[in-house]
Amino acid sequence: MPEVIPNPLHDGRAEAVLAKLQAQGDREFKYLAAHGLAGMIRRWMTRRKPDIHWDFLRDKLIPLHPDKCRLAYVLCRSLNAQRVVEFGTSFGVSTIYLAAAVRDNAQSGRRGIVIGTEIEPTKVAAARGNLAEAGLADFVDIREGDALETLKDIGGPGDFLLMDSWTRYARGIIEIVAPQLRPGAIVMADNVGQLPGAYRAYTDYIRNPSNGFRSMLWPYKGGVELSVKVD
Ligand SMILES: C[S@@+](CC[C@H](N)C(=O)[O-])C[C@H]1O[C@@H](n2cnc3c(N)ncnc32)[C@H](O)[C@@H]1O
Repeated sequence: MPEVIPNPLHDGRAEAVLAKLQAQGDREFKYLAAHGLAGMIRRWMTRRKPDIHWDFLRDKLIPLHPDKCRLAYVLCRSLNAQRVVEFGTSFGVSTIYLAAAVRDNAQSGRRGIVIGTEIEPTKVAAARGNLAEAGLADFVDIREGDALETLKDIGGPGDFLLMDSWTRYARGIIEIVAPQLRPGAIVMADNVGQLPGAYRAYTDYIRNPSNGFRSMLWPYKGGVELSVKVD
């Protein structure tokens, strides 16, 4: 019998949107897999270094794995997060979990916010539509443009930062957002174990205690770096 992985959301409306996006992601996955295989063969035949085809990835979902989204939800609930930042929103899969956590943390009239960031305008429109369909539009501010610009001012102390985007920006983003996080805030970065070289500049920063974080690599499905801001 397949194991039933519990979903902490308990929100039928949001879960229906997530199921729709999951189906879209599953359809895309075969194209991503074929593209990856073709690249491996090309590299093997030409002995060239791998290159990433940014144009091919431009319109793809590439969502955060559901287990990691659920971890982010639970961490945001535990932190009583009111101001959450996300680098890399795409169609809004992880954003739905983050926005649900902020909504569920709402206390007597105080409404928190998830600041999402996405550079592709068509994805911004899709993400806004998906968040509205999930009933969570009031809890997100999806900023269109380069996160190195759009995250310069998050409007107050941040409780949680999700890093789920292209690795080449990771160091720049953490340097911009870290000073805006409160002590006790958590930073979650995806695929750090799978891409140690690409993430080197990021891990050099976040694992250096003099930058104010204590950090660990959670070795699950590509590895998630979890870092807590201590000062
Ligand atoms: C892995 S996807 C994010 C997936 C999303 N978190 C989810 O769970 O559905 C990474 C996204 O980051 C976006 N991106 C890449 N560079 C960016 C930048 N400099 N500023 C903002 N967004 C960027 C890409 O267009 C892509 O949609």
